[in-house]
Amino acid sequence: MTEETPRKVDMEKIVSLCRRRGFIFPSSEIYGGLSSCWDYGPLGVELKRNVKEAWWRVVVQERDDMVGLDASILMHPQTWEASGHIEGFADPLVECKSCHLRWRTDEIKDNNCPSCGGELTEPRMFNLMFKTFMGPIEEEADVVYLRPETAQGIFVNFQNVVNTTRKKLPFGIAQIGKAFRNEITTGNFIFRSREFEQMEIEFFVKPGTDKEWFDYWLEERLNWYVKLGIRKENLRLRQHGKDELAHYAKECHDIDYLFPMGWSELEGIANRGDFDLVQHANSSGKSLEYFDEKTKEHFVPYIIEPSAGVDRSILAFLCDAYDEELAEGETRVILHLHHSLAPIKVAVLPLSRRDPLVALAKQIHADLRQCWMVQYDDAQSIGRRYRRQDEIGTPFCITVDFQSLEDNQVTIRERDSMNQIRVPVSELKDTLAAKLSGEELFVLPPGGKIWKGGEQGMISPQREK
Ligand code: GAP
Repeated sequence: MTEETPRKVDMEKIVSLCRRRGFIFPSSEIYGGLSSCWDYGPLGVELKRNVKEAWWRVVVQERDDMVGLDASILMHPQTWEASGHIEGFADPLVECKSCHLRWRTDEIKDNNCPSCGGELTEPRMFNLMFKTFMGPIEEEADVVYLRPETAQGIFVNFQNVVNTTRKKLPFGIAQIGKAFRNEITTGNFIFRSREFEQMEIEFFVKPGTDKEWFDYWLEERLNWYVKLGIRKENLRLRQHGKDELAHYAKECHDIDYLFPMGWSELEGIANRGDFDLVQHANSSGKSLEYFDEKTKEHFVPYIIEPSAGVDRSILAFLCDAYDEELAEGETRVILHLHHSLAPIKVAVLPLSRRDPLVALAKQIHADLRQCWMVQYDDAQSIGRRYRRQDEIGTPFCITVDFQSLEDNQVTIRERDSMNQIRVPVSELKDTLAAKLSGEELFVLPPGGKIWKGGEQGMISPQREK
């Protein structure tokens, strides 16, 4: 980690917000927690679903050259022999002779314990795969591993996918799923944990075209983060030196994000060459060659692998979205999340708990929740309710007031600008749909009256493509 610059948000603020508002809790908290394992709460699970959905949409749904897969976590043990993980998926570990903390050697600066300065043991290799047993009697059971990457499930299914989809090269297989690593040191909240989720693409190409596809995916993946609101200046590409390349990689670039603790890997993009398919073909005795019908050639494809972390993406989106500003003498915490990522899209806020108003507000709530995750909140002042929604990143609040009963109009208040517009209830769904999909911006007509903060006024909605 280098080039650290001061940042507006520190990790404590993100952790505290996540805990306070139900995004992320420590795992098994009532028992004191389990080191580096995390539970996604009611808002976190929505954010996570939205991140995965945003990825799946662009890498699978909107492409002709990609299909999805959901392989099992437990795989034949031979998989991990062939992949090189049993031999090579290990980190050098040292232990402090005084405080007994364990460290990866890349975390050590001057040969002493980073925590107490004590003397360290000689490094020994520590395999990061979790072992478990398949079968009822442990002594007789087969040892199986929790997968440390989702990628291997894709490689072993390469031929199945070719045969059943008749996809032609170049094409890719995408998968989202859990991976497990017995990391020596964890930390920085959900950045490095022992159980996490990956979003991986294995893109199969003809050897010789791999460089071109590698560059293509670098750009695609960088732009995915930018389109979802990550500031460009918080992203960078870092090429792996020869000494740090994984055993399977010919070339690798990390997409780094400027996390609160400094620049760190968000996603890795590797050129895996033909390493994996050759290894699995040799180990299984099954051909994993591809037949090019045009050129009549048989060959083993090369693989370009963009491999992203769901949890690290969530952390980056939260850090980038977090903001504090002074509004009406109070600190307003806002998550400027991209609309597609926001856990709750709309909040319905009746100005009073009195009956005719509640009936209308509940009817609007019931109608809107057919389309989006919508919250109904009638507790405390309207200002407090807005703040609560700002803090969890809700793009739009609908206020139902007494005037609504007369003119059948409600107010839409936008999170970032706090601007407010008045719309007929009959147009509410369409207006929100346009705004949420980013097609319609708030346009304030010259001299038009707006509602900002507590101030009241009115403008009619205008559409701008
Ligand atoms: N199949 C290639 C592969 O697994 P990796 O760089 O080891 O490559 C890919 O992992 C991504 O998975 C990382 O960029 C990161 O986002 C995520 N990741 C890896 N280890 C993680 C951990 N211990 N906790 C959270 N995310 C992790």
